Order: sequence, then C-alpha cells, then structure tokens
Amino acid sequence: MHHISSINLFALLIPSLLVQVSSSPSHNNTCRSYCGNISIDYPFALKYGCGHPNYRDLLYCINNVLMLHIASGSYQVLNIDYAFQALTLHDPHLSTCNSIVLGSRGNGFVVEPWRASYLSPTPENAFLLIGCSAKSPLFQGHPSKNLPCRNISGLGCEDYYRCPAWGSIGPTDVGLVFGSGPPECCAVGFDEFGPSQGINLTKLDCQGYSSAYTLAPLKIDGPHEWSYGIRVKYSFQGHDTFCKACEATRGTCGYNVDDDNEFTDLCLCGTGNSTLNCDSDSVSNIDSLITVVKLSNIY
Ligand SMILES: *[C@@H]1O[C@H](CO)[C@@H](O)[C@H](O)[C@H]1NC(C)=O
Ligand SMILES: *[C@@H]1O[C@H](CO)[C@@H](O)[C@H](O)[C@H]1NC(C)=O
Ligand SMILES: *[C@@H]1O[C@H](CO)[C@@H](O)[C@H](O)[C@H]1NC(C)=O
Ligand SMILES: *[C@@H]1O[C@H](CO)[C@@H](O)[C@H](O)[C@H]1NC(C)=O
Ligand SMILES: *[C@@H]1O[C@H](CO)[C@@H](O)[C@H](O)[C@H]1NC(C)=O
Repeated sequence: MHHISSINLFALLIPSLLVQVSSSPSHNNTCRSYCGNISIDYPFALKYGCGHPNYRDLLYCINNVLMLHIASGSYQVLNIDYAFQALTLHDPHLSTCNSIVLGSRGNGFVVEPWRASYLSPTPENAFLLIGCSAKSPLFQGHPSKNLPCRNISGLGCEDYYRCPAWGSIGPTDVGLVFGSGPPECCAVGFDEFGPSQGINLTKLDCQGYSSAYTLAPLKIDGPHEWSYGIRVKYSFQGHDTFCKACEATRGTCGYNVDDDNEFTDLCLCGTGNSTLNCDSDSVSNIDSLITVVKLSNIY
C-alpha cells in the first residue's frame, strides 16, 4: 500500500515538474510587456537590449500611458497595429474639428534623420498647417503663386473649414492661389518637404496644425468624422529574417551594443544569448560570435 501511494505521488509530481521546465526562462519572453492595455512587442520594447535597435529609446511608459519620443517632441501612443505595422499617435496640441490650438504649441512631426526611414507618417495622413506666415517656406518658390496645398486622400482644408472650430476664427482667404494673403490653412502630405525635414512648425512658421488620416476608403460625411491624430507606419527591413529564426527556436529578439556603438542582432535565450538562434550549439560564447555578425552602423 505504502509503495503504491508513493508511486502515485511520483506520477503526480512528474507533470508539475514538466510544467516547471517548460516555463523556465528559456520559454520566457523577457521583452514583451504592457503599458496600460497596449502590448509592446517586437520591434518595439521598453527594455534596453530588447526589440529592434532602430526603435530604441523611442517608447516610454509613464503612469500606464505609452509615450513616443522623437525630435519634435512627445506623443501619446493610442494604439500599435502590428498587422499593419502602424502606430496611432495623439498630440494634445493638435487642432481638431472642435478646437483650434494656435500659439505654436503643437509639435508637428520631425523624426531624427537616422530613424526617418524606419518611422514616418503614412501617405494617407494629411497635415493641415494653420496660420502660417506669408514668409513661410511653404509659400516660397512656387511658380505663378500656386500653393503646394492639396487634398491628401480626400482630406483637405476646404472641408476642414466647415468644422465648428473655425466658427470663431473664420477663414478669410480659402483660395488655392495666393491672393491678398496666405490661406489660413494649407494641407500637405508628410513628404512635402522631404522625410528628413518632416513637418517642422517652427521652420514653416505656422501657428498650429491639425492631422487626420483615413484607414479605409469609407464614405466619410465630413470633417467631423475624420480620424484626428497622426498615423505612423514603421518598417524594418532585412533583420526580421533573423528575428523569425530566433523566435522559431523560442528565443526573443533583441540586440547588443558594443563599445563602438555598433549593433548586433541578439537572440535572447533563457540559457544565454546567441547571434543566431536558440538551438543549443549556437547559444555559447557570444563574445567571439558578436564580431562575426555586425549590423551596419546605423548612425
Ligand atoms: C518571466 O520573466 C519575468 C521577468 O524576469 C519574471 O518576473 C517571470 O516570473 C518569468 N515568468 C516565468 C514563467 O518564468
Ligand atoms: C485601451 O483602453 C482604452 C480606454 O479604456 C480603450 O479606448 C482602447 O480601445 C483600449 N485599447 C486597446 C488596444 O485595447
Ligand atoms: C525645426 O526648425 C528649427 C528652425 O529651423 C530648428 O531650429 C529646429 O531644430 C527644428 N526642429 C527639429 C525637431 O528638427
Ligand atoms: C479638395 O476636395 C474638396 C472636396 O472634395 C474640393 O472641393 C477641393 O477642390 C479639393 N481641393 C484640392 C486642392 O484638390
Ligand atoms: C542577453 O542580452 C540581454 C540584452 O542585451 C542582456 O540584458 C542579458 O544580460 C544577456 N544575457 C546573457 C546571459 O548574456
């Protein structure tokens, strides 16, 4: 009797031992995290050494609010769409259909030059520049005084002027041709001045801005139905082959920075790190391997 019950006890222990083994650090994604209800996953990360180096020092979780920090300032991240590789951002100084924020408090959108090709507003995102001075680069160098202002995927100033926010200010000149003065509002795409210039409200000498985007070619009734915010796409080429191989062996994708500020893809395995994947023989002596697989210096 005694004998049998100890065997039964042992049989009961085996599954719990297996559970412990399978939840050991080797299967623990040490990089995935949450900020509020937004999940942070590759290529993004909140921890140093996690995610893709192109997105390092970018996201911060402050009191459960996810913030994105770039050259032009900080923006709240409302959503990360991993399937469409896009982020939806909010700028508290962004004008909407209900309020127009002037006084150059808005950020616009400028990304550090080295990061510009990995993170930029989508082509469907319209920037509606408000109260730009006549001396603004926006209005210089255009033949026969035609302005660069246009509609971006159906979003433009003619419609925006119908918003209640304009009631108190009231556009005085809504033309497309420079008449008595510059238009109150001018809509441009993010690439109007080149991706590295971005939308720099100081440089453009504008008082404020709005930003709106369309997700699908839906029938939209008017500017009160636009989505206000900044829709940003992220793209990471080349390295995700490495990451897929790493994840296929239950690793977590990360990177290492050496003393020369060079980045190396690193597969974070519970038992150690690897420059390849978590298959046992490559998870060893990373220091000697690190010199082999160097990423191009992204500075
Ligand atoms: C995974 O790692 C985190 C952070 O190190 C730790 O808090 C957690 O307990 C681990 N989970 C498992 C199942 O090992
Ligand atoms: C997170 O919560 C907010 C407010 O509770 C909600 O509006 C939003 O849709 C949620 N986002 C996600 C990704 O679940
Ligand atoms: C915006 O332009 C101003 C004036 O040219 C410049 O001083 C500033 O650094 C620019 N801001 C960013 C974020 O690039
Ligand atoms: C933008 O669209 C509006 C409404 O469809 C139209 O009236 C206007 O002429 C368009 N403006 C430009 C610059 O194409
Ligand atoms: C693996 O890499 C991560 C991120 O760079 C680092 O924090 C960790 O200490 C490394 N682990 C080992 C065992 O080298």
